[in-house]
Amino acid sequence: MTKSIQVAIDGPASAGKSTVAKILAKKRGYIYCDTGAMYRALTLSALENKADLDSETELESLLETITISFKQKEDGQHVYLNEQDVTDEIRVSDVTNAVSKVSAYKTIREEMVNRQQKITSSNSIVMDGRDIGTVVLPNADLKIFLVASVEERAERRYKENLSKGIQTDFETLKKEIADRDHYDSNRKNSPLVQAEDAILVDTSGLTIPEVVQKIEKELKTFL
Ligand code: CDP
Ligand code: CDP
Repeated sequence: MTKSIQVAIDGPASAGKSTVAKILAKKRGYIYCDTGAMYRALTLSALENKADLDSETELESLLETITISFKQKEDGQHVYLNEQDVTDEIRVSDVTNAVSKVSAYKTIREEMVNRQQKITSSNSIVMDGRDIGTVVLPNADLKIFLVASVEERAERRYKENLSKGIQTDFETLKKEIADRDHYDSNRKNSPLVQAEDAILVDTSGLTIPEVVQKIEKELKTFL
């Protein structure tokens, strides 16, 4: 039997993690797990239920009652909250602006990590997030830390929004990204940090295929 492979991709907002993780998973036939989507689904549920975002216990109780799952469809991976498709809803700005706060709580992270590790089990997987190489999959075969300048990351999001017909203010977008990175990197519980054994890939000026190629090159050494 061939050995199952774990690939951990971490990095700041809009570095291209989910885009390259999805392509890599599809090419290799691995499972893809978007851990950010899980924190976003909980945040959406908290906003819908008017939960107190300052109350860790309230959010913890909410998380106990909800299911978060993924299904592969023809047009890509869909995210479900209590069996309801929330793929688009979890990307709205209200969720984006609240998610870092919700995901900073220790008990929330412990439960999410628990669920993420169960998804992994014996399957080959590409998982992306903030703490995959450091906490969720500390023994991953390959750990990648994707970065790009904040200017370029904001530009990417700006273009992505435009392609969906959403007009955003570039400077506001840039500030939101920088603020979220700051919050995620400075929280007490599993902050965004490059694992010691992760390979740093600076994607500034690189196309998506070029980034995928770089990661595949690293992956080949384990296959
Ligand atoms: O795609 P984008 O970079 O906007 O973010 P995401 O991957 O969807 O993650 C949204 C937020 O969830 C992050 O800003 C973190 O606050 C949190 N997150 C986390 O704390 N740990 C993870 N493993 C993944 C996401
Ligand atoms: O998951 P993360 O927040 O790290 O980023 P993403 O959602 O995968 O990528 C953010 C945007 O940047 C998407 O619209 C990608 O198509 C784009 N992108 C790019 O233009 N060039 C890259 N090398 C990587 C991503």
